[in-house]
Formats: sequence, structure tokens, C-alpha cells
Amino acid sequence: MDKIRIVGGRTLNGTIPISGAKNAALPLMIAGLLTEEKLTLENVPRLADVALLQRILGNHGVDITTAGKRNGDDPHAGQTLEIDARAIVDTTAPYDLVSRMRASFWVIAPLIARMGEARVSLPGGCAIGTRPVDFHLDALRALGADLEIDAGYVVARAPKGLQGGRIVFPKVSVGATHTALMAAATAQGETVIENAAREPEIGDLAACLNKMGARISGAGTATIHIEGVPRLRGARHAVLPDRIETGTYAMAVAMTGGDVTLAGASPDLLESALDTLRQAGAQVEATNEGIRVRRNGAGILPVDVETQPFPGFPTDLQAQFMALMTKAKGNSRITETIFENRFMHVQELARLGARIHLDGDTATVEGVERLTGAPVMATDLRASVSLVIAGLAAEGETLVQRVYHLDRGFERLEEKLARCGAQIERISS
Ligand code: EPZ
Repeated sequence: MDKIRIVGGRTLNGTIPISGAKNAALPLMIAGLLTEEKLTLENVPRLADVALLQRILGNHGVDITTAGKRNGDDPHAGQTLEIDARAIVDTTAPYDLVSRMRASFWVIAPLIARMGEARVSLPGGCAIGTRPVDFHLDALRALGADLEIDAGYVVARAPKGLQGGRIVFPKVSVGATHTALMAAATAQGETVIENAAREPEIGDLAACLNKMGARISGAGTATIHIEGVPRLRGARHAVLPDRIETGTYAMAVAMTGGDVTLAGASPDLLESALDTLRQAGAQVEATNEGIRVRRNGAGILPVDVETQPFPGFPTDLQAQFMALMTKAKGNSRITETIFENRFMHVQELARLGARIHLDGDTATVEGVERLTGAPVMATDLRASVSLVIAGLAAEGETLVQRVYHLDRGFERLEEKLARCGAQIERISS
């Protein structure tokens, strides 16, 4: 298994190109199931999760082709995928695939919308919390689907098609909002989604569905209206920049010091996280190219944060921010309100010398003068990158194991950081 070796202590200087957002690319690829025509997605990141979803969609009969390289192509540009779901040959999403990537459960919505039936495995446990799918199922029921659980599978039927309805989510859920959007796009009549997630990836899915002929308004607000249309057509859509990758590298620069431009990043997608970084002492500004982050000389200041649905501070940046706070000049409190078990990085950060006290959903981080390198174990995607951030500022060598977690969500991480002066390499074995 590959490892990442980091020798800490260097500042970061230069430019990091930001990739397309994983969490937008995945639902957009799944939306390809909704039409018999070709959906072309540009700026798709080259990630293990994208490759796995290609396999999962292939299992339903979807052909996905990747456009080849052209002379003069920017080597950092994302890939273009052509998704062709002309014939859906199988409406079952099996356990061995769904259990490897939770987002693949979302195929349930387009399958039932287009085929009138779906048999999708329940995803099972997850390192960051229990993560049930009850909101997804309630949304589908509200649109007239008949659901039962059979041998670990959700069996969904709507032989006469889905009907528009009113969906009120008890709690904000990104995935359930994606499900509701995809199911309602071709349902008969009008659907209203209340307490919808407002994450930018929801807006990106709605924008793409509208290009495909859907009639969705209000995406990006808590109330979304969908007027069902009989069918969707092909379209071309570019995936929005990855706000979590952006925030991760911004925190890395705040941690090491230096001056980095995050090219292609959009500040509107992560205002709360950027404000928090400013409070921590980093200089953050929007430029024509993207976002420039600097920290020269000044120490890191402690800042308290609480994770919240968008536009609040994202849970997907909580681990990275905690890594930054380990070297702050004082104590900070980090409260996780989205997932109940998203503190797996705490014990690993402690191996590098961090002082963190956990009490329920709150971690109190006592900033230390120095971290020291050590072998550490990645536990999930965002936790593993927090160890990389800490390793960049630790004295000596940090060896991050189980790198496959990083490959799920960060494209060429070691290359992007090394180009800015970090001493980081992948050790393949
Ligand atoms: C999405 O997961 C993201 N995944 C996650 O990113 C992200 O952490 C999360 O949203 C929150 O922003 C993708 O987009 C592929 P939720 P999702 O439904 O949709 C509870 C990463 O690192 N809930 O918004 O699965 C749930 O348990 C990943 O890239 C129910 O109770 O998250 C959680 O407490 C990890 N019942 C809360 O809602 C349900 O049916 C929010 O989860 C659904 C959710």
C-alpha cells in the first residue's frame, strides 16, 4: 500500500491549481442516468471515487468515455466524461459496490424515476458516523414511490411514475436533497423541497438538470421548486471548483506560512472558512486567478469554530482546521455538529505532539510550540489530509499510511504541494 512521506518545516510558495469538486462530480455523473441522451461533464477530477462511480454506473449499462488528451491541453485541467445511459440494463446496485462508496446509493432516484423500479443496497456503516438514509427514503415516498427493505436492499417501485409532492426535511441533508431533485425532475406535477441543503454542489446539480430541460428554481436557498417535465435531454456542463480542496490548501499555507495562489478557486464557495482563516492570522484575498493566501511571520491565532451546513463552516474542513489549531498561540474549541464520530484524526494528531481534549462533540485544542514527525494512520478522507497538513509543519519525518483514503478526494496532492516547495513524496509499495 502506498505511503506519503513528508519532511516538515518548509513554507509553501507558488500556485496550486484547484480541481473540479468531487462532491459535485459524483451527483452529476449519477444524473446522467436520467436521460437517454449524452451528458458531457467537463472539469471532472481524476479521483478514485470518480473511477469507482464509473464502474458502478457501468454495472447499470451506462457507457462512459473519457476524451483523450489534445495538443496544448493544460495538464492540470480536469477530464471530460461523456456519459451515455441510452440503455439501462440493470436496476440493481449491489452491496459490494454501494458499501465502498456511500454516494452511489443516490442512483436510487434516477433509476426509479426513469425505470419505475430500483433495488439498491443499503450502504452500511461508515468511519465518520452512522449516516442513515431515512430522509432519502421519505423523500421518495413523498413522491409516490413504494418502498420496502428486503435482505439489506431498498426495493423501490413506481410503475406509473413518480408524482410531484411536498418534501420537508427534518434536518439539512446534502445527499437527500440530491435524491429529491433527481426524483422530482421528471415526476408528474410540482414538487416543493423545504429545508433543502444550500451547498454549492446542490446548485451545480440543479444548474445541470436545468440544462437538461428540468424546471428547477430556488436551488441554493432552503426552498426549492421543481416543475416536473416528461423527459430530460443531453447537455454539457462544467463541474464547479472544489471548495474543500481549496480550503484544505488554504489551511496548509496558513499552517506552514508562505504565499500561494489557489488558481481557479472561487471565494464565494467558502466564505465562512476563509473568514475563519483571516481570524487565525492568514491574509486571504480574491484575485483574478482565484484566491491568494499568505502568512508571513505572524503566528497562528486560536479561533473557535462549529461546523454547520452551508453557508456555515463545513464539516469537511473540520479536521484540517484542527490540524492548524494544534500550533495556534492559545486554546481553541472545535465543535462538530454534522457527524457524531468525526474525530478519528484526534488520536493521530496526538502522535505528532498535538494536545487535544475531546468532550462529546467538542474538541479543545491547546496550541503547542512544535509538532514532531511520526508514522500516522489515515482513517478517512478529510482526516488523512489533516495529517498531511500537520506533517508539513512538524519537525522531521511524517509517514502517512493508508493513502488510498487521500486518493478518493485529492487529485495529485503530493505533486501540487511539492511544486510549492513542500518536501513530500509518495512511496509506492
Ligand atoms: C455529503 O454527504 C458529502 N458527501 C460529505 O462529504 C459531507 O460531509 C456531507 O454531505 C455534509 O456536508 C458527498 O457529497 C458525496 P448529509 P451526505 O446527508 O450527503 C444525517 C467528504 O469527505 N442524515 O448532508 O451523506 C447524517 O447522518 C464527504 O467528501 C440522516 O440522519 O451527508 C448527517 O448527520 C464525507 N438521514 C447529516 O444528516 C439521512 O437520510 C448530514 O448528512 C441523511 C442524512
